[in-house]
Amino acid sequence: MWIANKKSELQAHLSTCKEPVILVPTMGALHPGHASLISLAKEQAGDTGTVIVSIFVNPIQFDRGSDLESYPRPLDTDLELCERHGADGIFVPDTGEVYSPDRSVTVIESSLSSYLCGATRPGHFDGVCTVVLKLFNLSRCDAAVFGEKDFQQLAIIRRMIRDLDLGVEIIPHPTVREDDGLAMSSRNERLIPEHRNDAPRIQKALLEASKQGTPEKILRVAGDLIEASPYARIDYLSLVDSETLLPVDRLSAPSVLACAVFYGDVRLIDHIDIPARKQ
Ligand code: PAJ
Repeated sequence: MWIANKKSELQAHLSTCKEPVILVPTMGALHPGHASLISLAKEQAGDTGTVIVSIFVNPIQFDRGSDLESYPRPLDTDLELCERHGADGIFVPDTGEVYSPDRSVTVIESSLSSYLCGATRPGHFDGVCTVVLKLFNLSRCDAAVFGEKDFQQLAIIRRMIRDLDLGVEIIPHPTVREDDGLAMSSRNERLIPEHRNDAPRIQKALLEASKQGTPEKILRVAGDLIEASPYARIDYLSLVDSETLLPVDRLSAPSVLACAVFYGDVRLIDHIDIPARKQ
C-alpha cells in the first residue's frame, strides 16, 4: 500500500494505477463503519482496480475552531485499518497542500443545504462539496463510496455530481451500527458512560416512529421517545422528502425521518427511511 502526502506523489502513483479507481473520502479516526466502506470499494474495484482512501480533516467544513483542533488524528492505526481492508493507496495531505492561502473559489450548494444539519451549520456543506470536488479531481476516480449515515451529505454530493456533470459514480453504503443499534461514529467515544448507554434510544425511537401511519404521529412518537431521556436534547427532528429534503406533511413519496440529538456537547445524527404509503 502506498502513501502520498503531496499531490505530485498522488499523480505519480495514479500513473501506474489500474482502472477503475474507487475513492473512499474520510477524515480519519477510522472505525469499523469506515472499514466496511473500504471493503465495499475493494469488492467493486475487483482484482485489477485501485482503491484509494483519502484521510484529510477538512478545516473549511468545521464551524467551530475547537472541533477542528480536537478532531482525533490516530494516523498509524488508520493506516493499518486501511491496509487490512484492502486499500491500495492512501492520500493524506496537510492543509497547506490542499488549500492555497489565498484560495477564492468555493462550491456553493444553495438548496439541499438549507435544512436539517445545514440549518444549524452554515457553510458546512459548501466546505464538504469543495473538498470532495477537489478529491475527485485529484484522484481522477471513476467512483466513490459514501456512507448513508450522513444521508444529507450523500444527497448533496449526488446533486453536485449531477449539476456539475462530474461523471463520478456514487456507491452508497448502509449505516454500520454498534450491537445495540447506535450508529457508529468517531464522536461516540466522547460520550460519557451514562450518555453512551442512553444513546441507542435514538434508533429505537426512529424505528418505533416509522411504524406510525401519519407524519404527525411519526414525529410525535419519535420526539416523545427521545425526550423521555434525562440526557438527550433534540437539535432537530424532521420528516423530509428523500430527494428534495423539504419537510413533508403527507406520505405519498419516499421520505426520511432524520434527527440530530445532543448528549452534552456531543451531537449525534441518525435517520430512517419511510416508504411511501398507498393513499
Ligand atoms: P467522515 O466523517 O470521516 O466519514 C467518511 C465516510 O464514512 C462518509 O461517507 C460517512 O458517511 C461514512 N461513515 C461514517 N460513519 C459511518 C457509519 N457508521 N456507517 C456507514 N458509513 C459511515 O464524511 C466525512 O468524513 C467528510 O465530510 C468527507 C466526506 C470526508 C469530506 O471531508
